[in-house]
Amino acid sequence: MADKGSNRSRGSYRTAGVPVPSLLTLFAHLLFIAITTLLLVWLLHFRDGLSFTSTNNLKLFNLHPFFMIIGFVLISGEAIMAFTTIPATRRTRKYFHMFLHLIGLGSSIVGLFAIFKFQHDTGKSNLLTLHSWIGISTVSLYALLYIVSFLVFFFPGAQNWRRARLVPWHVLYGIAVFFMGIVSAETGLIQKFIALGLQKGQEALIVNFTGLLLLLFGISVGLVVLLPVSYY
Ligand code: HEM
Repeated sequence: MADKGSNRSRGSYRTAGVPVPSLLTLFAHLLFIAITTLLLVWLLHFRDGLSFTSTNNLKLFNLHPFFMIIGFVLISGEAIMAFTTIPATRRTRKYFHMFLHLIGLGSSIVGLFAIFKFQHDTGKSNLLTLHSWIGISTVSLYALLYIVSFLVFFFPGAQNWRRARLVPWHVLYGIAVFFMGIVSAETGLIQKFIALGLQKGQEALIVNFTGLLLLLFGISVGLVVLLPVSYY
């Protein structure tokens, strides 16, 4: 009988070289689609839409949750899962992991630019709220992780024994920053919910369900990475 462990990478079964995604990974991908749909309905239908150049400042504000949730939180979650679940060689998985995180990093910078420009254009002060403190710390730690990991694991790259020792710290730090991203997004949603005076109705439900599904996405990504493969 073939050894199950050698036949299976985390989050997927390999049958004759073709991986079948595990239910947990599939669930996380479905949450990605559901959250993106809810967010787009919220920003495009209930709110003013998205634009960098419009005279309507609210369109600029909307780019903040758009880039932060889809570009940063969801894509970096996919980047985390990609390393262990996509059906490819270790080298390809590594490049894909790095590429998705680069999109996550780029999006977080664009999302921050949008909110700082919005605050500036509307004459508001910066970094007064808990959301903004957690948010700025998250993006700073994420950028630091990307730079250090690039130097250690890619170019110029540390010696093999040092890389092997750093891998568990890379995983732990990465998961911690990812969950900080989830907390940032949740606090941002709550803040906007209150600022808009939402209580009942469709829009309130959309904002709350976006937050709930984000939490589930975070838990799913955490389980895919941390659980031993035999558990799911
Ligand atoms: C990973 C996700 C997020 C991060 C890292 C993040 C980060 C930040 C930062 C650093 C600021 C401060 C900007 C300033 O002071 O000029 C800010 C402001 C703001 N963000 Fe987010 N944000 C995230 C997601 C969201 C989401 C999903 C919403 C919901 C609409 C949101 C709503 C707001 C609001 C209303 C402000 C202005 C008030 C304030 O400074 O707290 N954010 N965000």
